[in-house]
Amino acid sequence: MLEILRKRRSIRKFQDRPLTREQKGALEEAILRAPSAKNLKSWEFIMVDDKEILQKLSEVRGGSSSFLAGSSVAIVVLGNEEVADTWVEDASLAAIIAQLTATSLGLGSCWAHIRNRDHSPQKTAEDHVRELLDISRPFRVVCVIGIGHPAEEKLPVPKEELPFEKIHRNRF
Ligand SMILES: Cc1cc2nc3c(=O)[nH]c(=O)nc-3n(C[C@H](O)[C@H](O)[C@H](O)COP(=O)(O)O)c2cc1C
Repeated sequence: MLEILRKRRSIRKFQDRPLTREQKGALEEAILRAPSAKNLKSWEFIMVDDKEILQKLSEVRGGSSSFLAGSSVAIVVLGNEEVADTWVEDASLAAIIAQLTATSLGLGSCWAHIRNRDHSPQKTAEDHVRELLDISRPFRVVCVIGIGHPAEEKLPVPKEELPFEKIHRNRF
């Protein structure tokens, strides 16, 4: 696990080739194994591999989401706010599990944040994704995880550079 955590970096450049059926299957199994509060599984996911939709998704937050256009698969991570008040936590855990699984498969990934972000002064990023993918209430859009074969290399952050001062002992 530590090896996967060391390797995982945000990858925003991808090769133009699809994931295999096995890779997609592994990602789907992984997200459905994510823990959730009271095991209520408040999440839902949309697996997007249609290039036209990926292009439109990539425009949701300008430069912050542009990498989605080049990804092979994007996982749109939704939470049902009527199922659990922990929908943000539940969805976020599933999202990071998708990222760590991608790393374990030799793939790259990056998180595009949607919740509480704007598409334009008139429209939230969430409403933009909602309209694009026909998502109705009570589903909320937390983030989109772009995944693909990496076309850039990032080294693990050296252990000496980790902010160990953020770990407190016994009391703050
Ligand atoms: C909650 C959250 C939101 C993020 N939103 C974005 C985003 O909208 N666009 C983006 O390119 N990266 C986004 N990232 C990726 C971070 O920028 C990245 O994880 C951070 O810079 C550390 O780099 P690393 O992932 O390579 O370790 C997000 C990460 C998290 C956890």
